[in-house]
Amino acid sequence: MRTLAIYGAGGHGRVVADTASMLGWQEIVFYDESWPQHHKNSIWPVVGNYENLLATLAKYDGVIVAFGNCVIRLNKTRELINLRAPIISLVHPKAFISPNSTLGLGSVVFAGAVINIEARVGEASIINTGATVDHDCIIGPGVHVCPGANLSGGVEVGESSWIGVGSCVRHGIKIGANVMIGAGAVIVKDVPDGVTMIGVEASQTKP
Ligand SMILES: CC(C)(COP(=O)(O)OP(=O)(O)OC[C@H]1O[C@@H](n2cnc3c(N)ncnc32)[C@H](O)[C@@H]1OP(=O)(O)O)[C@@H](O)C(=O)NCCC(=O)NCCS
Repeated sequence: MRTLAIYGAGGHGRVVADTASMLGWQEIVFYDESWPQHHKNSIWPVVGNYENLLATLAKYDGVIVAFGNCVIRLNKTRELINLRAPIISLVHPKAFISPNSTLGLGSVVFAGAVINIEARVGEASIINTGATVDHDCIIGPGVHVCPGANLSGGVEVGESSWIGVGSCVRHGIKIGANVMIGAGAVIVKDVPDGVTMIGVEASQTKP
C-alpha cells in the first residue's frame, strides 16, 4: 500500500489529498501544528505535528507540503528535500501538462489546469484549479497561480509570488519575487519585487 504524508492540514491540503487519492495513493495522513486539537481534515486523519513527521519520515512512500502561504510551503519543502524526505509532485488526472514542460519537486497541478509547451514550473508551486501557464513561461519556486488565473506565453514569475484568482497576465511580462497580484487583476507591464497589484488597466486606445 502506498502511503502519503501531507504537512499542512487546511483547505489547500484537502485538495492535495483528494488529488492524491485520485492518483492512487491508498493511505493518506496529515501532519499539522494544530494537532492534537485538530485530528481530522475531511475524511483523512491528522496524526502529528512537524516534529512527529520528521521522526516517522522513513515509513512514507511520499511526502508533500500543503500550506497556502508561499514562503512557508517553499521553505518547508526545501528543508524536507535536504532531509532526504521522499517529496513528490501531484498532477490531477484532469489537468494537462505538455510532455515538453517541466514541473519542480513538491508542486501540485489541480483539475482543469494547463501547462503548455516549454513552460518551466519551479519546486513547491501550486497551479490551481483551471489556471493556465502558457508556452515558455518560467514560474519560480513557491509560486501560487490561483484558480482561473491565465499566464500568456513567456511570462516570468519570481519566487514565492501569488497570482490571484481570475487574474490575467499579458505575454512576455516579468513579475518579481514576493509579489501579490490581486483577484481579477490584468497585468500589462512588468512588476517589481515585493509589491501588491490590483485593477484592470483597460482604456480606449488612441487613434
Ligand atoms: C489584493 C488583496 C491582496 C488585498 O487584500 P487586503 O490588503 O486585505 O485588502 P482589503 O480587502 O482590505 O481591501 C482594501 C481595498 O482594496 C480593494 N480591493 C481588494 N482587493 C481588490 C482586488 N483584487 N481588485 C480591486 N480592488 C481590490 C477593496 O475593495 C478595498 O477597497 P476600499 O478601501 O475602497 O474599501 C486581496 O484582496 C486579493 O485580491 N487577494 C487575492 C485572493 C486570491 O487570489 N485568492 C485565491 C485563493 S486560492
